[in-house]
Amino acid sequence: MDIEECQKEWEDLLVDYKKLETLNREYVAKLDEVGELQASCLKELNHQRYRLSIITSALKRLHQKKNENVSSLEKEIMKRKAMLHEIEATLPKQNSLYLKIILGNVNVSILNKNDKFKYKDEYEKFKLILSAIAFVLAVANLYIDFRPLQLILIFLLVWYYCTLTIRESILKVNGSRIKGWWRLHHFISTVVSGILLIWPQNEPWDEFRHTFMWFIAYISVVQYMQFRYQSGVLYRLKALGARHNMDITIEGFHSWMWRGLSYLLPFLFGGYMFQLYIAYTLYHISYHPEATWQVPALSMSFFLLGIGNTVTTLLVIPQKLNEQDQKWRQNKVDLNKVEAKSE
Ligand code: COA
Repeated sequence: MDIEECQKEWEDLLVDYKKLETLNREYVAKLDEVGELQASCLKELNHQRYRLSIITSALKRLHQKKNENVSSLEKEIMKRKAMLHEIEATLPKQNSLYLKIILGNVNVSILNKNDKFKYKDEYEKFKLILSAIAFVLAVANLYIDFRPLQLILIFLLVWYYCTLTIRESILKVNGSRIKGWWRLHHFISTVVSGILLIWPQNEPWDEFRHTFMWFIAYISVVQYMQFRYQSGVLYRLKALGARHNMDITIEGFHSWMWRGLSYLLPFLFGGYMFQLYIAYTLYHISYHPEATWQVPALSMSFFLLGIGNTVTTLLVIPQKLNEQDQKWRQNKVDLNKVEAKSE
């Protein structure tokens, strides 16, 4: 290119740049508009919730004189609450205190259902990949007695559980119904891995390390099974359309879910027994003359994890039966309504 050609090119590019400028101005104006719309939606949402709470408490007072009008209004209110929940999922939310401390006030709300699904899917894949790496390292540690290799695995666990707590807090902000215990479980696991990292290399550690490596190998395999189950649930719910919505094909989903659970649960309880066995082993090791404070601390933590996991998983079953029963009854009511209308 000679200088004239360069100048011509430059002028051509200027025309394109003007177009880009106009486009960007339009985009920035729309962003402002979106911000304003979000603020108005939030205001209206709070207004709806406030007035609903007044009507609900008035209805509670009318409960003694229960009649058809009261129960039909109560049902309508239930439906409205569900709709408000759907609306809320499309609006940005405040970060939890933990996220505020770690990330500051950056916005982590995912407003699009597809992106929410992708984020959850990625979270499950992240757990799977890290479990595969932990499995390989644990098996290697069973055959090779090399301190740096042990430290690499334990350090990986500290980082993994810490990362999980952050990802799960982001999932929670975005409407996940993950139970408090599973999140607490990952906080406790971070502490456990931290204590393991500073456990000095002595005879008690040598007595324990094989059991620990077997445990990591075992839970990595269970994690793979959990991944199969969770991604199955995720894809089926996505295929059913709007998640947590009532649909006639939900029955097909439930039968798949119970099959998945009956396959997974024995292995999960196997893991909890393993945790309690570790707590017991560490309790014995704590009487060793060379035992440091890490041994009883870990024994107590594993005991807490084993009991907490057992109780939470046992509670999942009646809760799921209850939810299923409610959805089945709601489906029946909806079907009856459809039939009555078509007659
Ligand atoms: N970790 C992270 N998220 C979990 C979770 C866990 N252990 N258990 C459930 N969730 C999530 C679900 O994905 C779902 O998320 P969503 O609202 O974004 O869709 C939400 O919590 C509600 O799940 P719920 O319906 O209560 O249970 P489920 O059918 O998804 O899973 C179990 C039930 C029992 C299979 C599951 O809780 C589980 O695998 N628990 C065992 C975990 C464990 O013991 N790990 C240690 C092994 S030693």
